[in-house]
Amino acid sequence: MYALLRPLFFSLDPARAHAVAMSSLAPVEHVAPLRAIVRSAFAVRDPRLEVRKMGLVFPNPIGVAAGFDKNGERALALEALGFGHVELGTVTAEAQGPNPPPNLFRLPADKALVNRLGFPNEGAKVVGERVRARKASAGVPIGLSIGKSRSVPLEPLDGALADYVASFEAVRGAADFVVVNVSSPNTKDLRALQAADVAKHLFTELMTRAAGLPLLVKIAPDLADDAVDAICVEADRAGLAGVVATNTTISRAGLATSADDIERIGAGGLSGQPLFPRALAVVKRARQRLGPSACVIGVGGVHGAESALAMLRAGADLVQVYTSFVYEGPMLPRTIARGLSKEMDAEGAKALVDLVATTHGVSHGVHPAASAEA
Ligand SMILES: Cc1cc2nc3c(=O)[nH]c(=O)nc-3n(C[C@H](O)[C@H](O)[C@H](O)COP(=O)(O)O)c2cc1C
Repeated sequence: MYALLRPLFFSLDPARAHAVAMSSLAPVEHVAPLRAIVRSAFAVRDPRLEVRKMGLVFPNPIGVAAGFDKNGERALALEALGFGHVELGTVTAEAQGPNPPPNLFRLPADKALVNRLGFPNEGAKVVGERVRARKASAGVPIGLSIGKSRSVPLEPLDGALADYVASFEAVRGAADFVVVNVSSPNTKDLRALQAADVAKHLFTELMTRAAGLPLLVKIAPDLADDAVDAICVEADRAGLAGVVATNTTISRAGLATSADDIERIGAGGLSGQPLFPRALAVVKRARQRLGPSACVIGVGGVHGAESALAMLRAGADLVQVYTSFVYEGPMLPRTIARGLSKEMDAEGAKALVDLVATTHGVSHGVHPAASAEA
């Protein structure tokens, strides 16, 4: 079905196509009986897919990555499509618009996107209130991603920390977990917050207010391995629940898209399949540094059951998708969930963790990375 609709969507400007997709989900979001119908058609019910982590129960390991639903308007519809969690946002303390258009590009030859949106959102308070009002109807855990307002400089650091704290306070009643985003390439200086000696102040500020609400940090694929290690150490020390790996990359290495097109598109974060090998490596490293109890969410180029399984085998507890959802359409969570179920049938696994562990005969998080699908 989406194979028929995709050319239509792809004939639209990417930002417009996203707006159309969001509008088409509005009836599903707002009409409970319709949601039930969609859920029965799309969602895979297999108790073996359940993941328990951070004190939360995820019906399956496949979530929507941050940025798809920046204003928390379609959490219920996305759950009905079969996602096992939804990460909303990124929101900022101040409402803000997008960077000047064009700010979103498709690279079909690479099944990739480049964006430089820069956290357009209605503000943490408005989004927090919206999500809080709907949360009771959501059958899956809801994450909220918080970032730094564009108008707030990184120096003095106290101002930037206060900005994150304001967002955190605004969303805390709405979220089952909060992700602190220090890794978008589209907000000036944001990634400097990943430096361990800076990140530790941010983590401390937020953790003193967390009162049991799980907090994770989302990191960039462009960090060197020792920087991944360093931020994981700080996250662990501060008592964070885990890490989301990874955000988009500023690298343009190894793309099939022509150099001319890449130059024409310009700056921004690249997402989709080219990101997969690095995201996988960062997940593996984060798991090794954090140990088995932390929550690691793998995101970057996951596009089917095989790549999802590879992420899980590299040490992820949960995976997320964004770009492949755009390319593959609304059946994607179902396709991945069914693929994982079939794999469990074949392996005789009673739970996802058995599938991840039995294949290599070693415990979670220290497997050699499995290969991705072509
Ligand atoms: C258009 C677009 C907007 C995004 N916005 C955000 C965002 O607001 N916050 C965030 O943490 N990540 C954001 N991301 C990054 C995704 O959450 C994800 O980390 C990245 O795209 C890699 O996953 P993918 O290859 O499945 O797309 C965005 C990605 C895209 C394509």
